[in-house]
Amino acid sequence: MNKNVIITGAASGMGLSDTKEFLKHNWNVVMADFNEEVGTQKAIELQNKFPNSKVIFMKVDVSDAKSVDQLAKNVFKIFDSVDVIVNNAGIFASGALHELKESTWERVMNIDVKSIFLMTKAFVPRMMTMRRGVILNTASVSGLYGDYNMAAYSAAKGAVVNLTRSMALDYGKYGIRVNNIVPGPTNTSMFQKNSKEVIQSFNNASPLGHIVEPNDIAKMAYFLASDDAKSITGQNIQVTAGFGI
Ligand code: NAI
Repeated sequence: MNKNVIITGAASGMGLSDTKEFLKHNWNVVMADFNEEVGTQKAIELQNKFPNSKVIFMKVDVSDAKSVDQLAKNVFKIFDSVDVIVNNAGIFASGALHELKESTWERVMNIDVKSIFLMTKAFVPRMMTMRRGVILNTASVSGLYGDYNMAAYSAAKGAVVNLTRSMALDYGKYGIRVNNIVPGPTNTSMFQKNSKEVIQSFNNASPLGHIVEPNDIAKMAYFLASDDAKSITGQNIQVTAGFGI
């Protein structure tokens, strides 16, 4: 029987690559994203390409408790259990602290960190009952080292790093593994918003001379979700092309 994964932020970038990777391995995928138009279209295309799996788009705002609770209700109407949750949805905001509006700070914190709290509250009780499951969070190298002009984002992603460790400690006894993928600069729409000069400088900052592709993240996500990673939990796994070492 196919296993079931929920991927947030699945309409684009890494989340979309993750979706394709799990489908290649015959999983059922719930593509959960705020962007209904693009997400629905992508789900239809992928369902045609992967007829042996279920590919379902569900609209969610991961920063909103009611929306996440509704997502859980909709998911459990279709599937008895969820094997893996990929908390990938996130937003970026630039600026030093004094330049940020309070609303920007709150938006980044809510979408990048509170979302993990809400998704866990909605889905982990069923995993605890099943005594198995995998949760994958998504931080950033900015959350490991801090970064220029990214105060809110670095703070949010730094919180995800420690949250992952705490979650792994709390849920390990239920057979649930929790890990965190820490991407370096990755070639998605979020990254492409940078100027050509900034993109070039990121390429130059990698000892390999290139940034990360979304598919590199997807391969790591699938590995961490699979039983091949059965002894890995509480880890912050960098996929950075060497950026920041
Ligand atoms: P992206 O912008 O291509 O995709 C993000 C997706 O999340 C979009 O489909 C968007 O609609 C969705 N989303 C945004 N807010 C949402 C909400 N409130 N509820 C539900 N869905 C929402 O971004 P990308 O690059 O694929 O990023 C994925 C994750 O990786 C994010 O957490 C990001 O912070 C992180 N990351 C990205 C890096 C990069 O260079 N692209 C580097 C390090 C971390």
